[in-house]
Amino acid sequence: MLDAFERYPLTFGPTPIEKLDRLTAHLGGKVQIYAKREDCNSGLAFGGNKLRKLEYIVPDAIKSGADTLVSIGGVQSNHTRMIAAVAAKIGFKCRLVQEAWVPHEDTIYDRVGNIMLSRILGADVRLVEDGFDIGIRKSWEDAIADVEANGGKPYPIPAGASVHPYGGLGYVGFAEEVRAQEKELGFAFDYIIVCTVTGSTHAGMTVGFAKDGRAQKVIGIDASGTPAQTKAQVLEIARRTADLVKLGREITPDDVVLVEDYAYPYYGVPSDETKDAIRLAARLEGMMTDPVYEGKSMQGMIDLVKKGYFPEGAKVLYAHLGGAPALNGYGYAFRNG
Ligand SMILES: Cc1ncc(COP(=O)(O)O)c(C=O)c1O
Repeated sequence: MLDAFERYPLTFGPTPIEKLDRLTAHLGGKVQIYAKREDCNSGLAFGGNKLRKLEYIVPDAIKSGADTLVSIGGVQSNHTRMIAAVAAKIGFKCRLVQEAWVPHEDTIYDRVGNIMLSRILGADVRLVEDGFDIGIRKSWEDAIADVEANGGKPYPIPAGASVHPYGGLGYVGFAEEVRAQEKELGFAFDYIIVCTVTGSTHAGMTVGFAKDGRAQKVIGIDASGTPAQTKAQVLEIARRTADLVKLGREITPDDVVLVEDYAYPYYGVPSDETKDAIRLAARLEGMMTDPVYEGKSMQGMIDLVKKGYFPEGAKVLYAHLGGAPALNGYGYAFRNG
């Protein structure tokens, strides 16, 4: 589906699929749980889902003649950390806007984890007081204008790289990769679990799995806390991406499955149940998930298994999208383990 698009390799190659035997047994053994380890996809600053997206964006950035990647996220954004790493790797400068998306408990929140890594990677990191919103931000537009005013040539990448015209392509590739791995495994997955916020990960998967009739088997777990906006953005990106890759059919609202029940209390703030899911995955599988994204999708998957959402015998693939560096900003939440 992606042959027509140029790709700049930033990842090691296909990510491993791992059976989560102990979590499967803990949840009763009726649903088989696997993880696709997108969190282990690259040597670039701890990796994660943004790199698949950026592989299809970097060729355009290089061709544009720009010299500075300009992007945006919350203070502990994984996305901006990945932009900083990619800028270093391709020899660009990097300007990052870090908005105050999360009411946090730790005084060192803006000194550790992702934001610290971005600073070490050489990015020009600017903190801004504006609150959470996945849409196009004035602070980001101001940063683009400021780079230009100072003689730089900006290449703008929006939050999560999601509403970039090529933002959905990377996760179409994920679906193709899963299909190839399924041939080797000798079975196909019945459901794919994905954490959804800015939307292009979910949207790319929806398009990629629509090819074999599984669009509605991609179960997005909302972590934004603004699910109507997130769902609309997933649909818009999926439609645009379907056109780009010539899917041959329209993506409809029914194709976007978004479960809204686990984002509480707020974007970036873990509930007690999210913290329990993070501990469970860590203690049964040695697998680290974070309080902003993957802990919420882990909580969602566990709860859906317990509620009988998946039929007996189903094989569920949890897409682990990365994000563990943010844990450093949540020392208080895990002060007793
Ligand atoms: C670790 C992690 N998981 C999930 C997501 C959600 O992906 P998307 O923004 O493409 O919906 C992100 C980024 O926002 C992330 O960094």
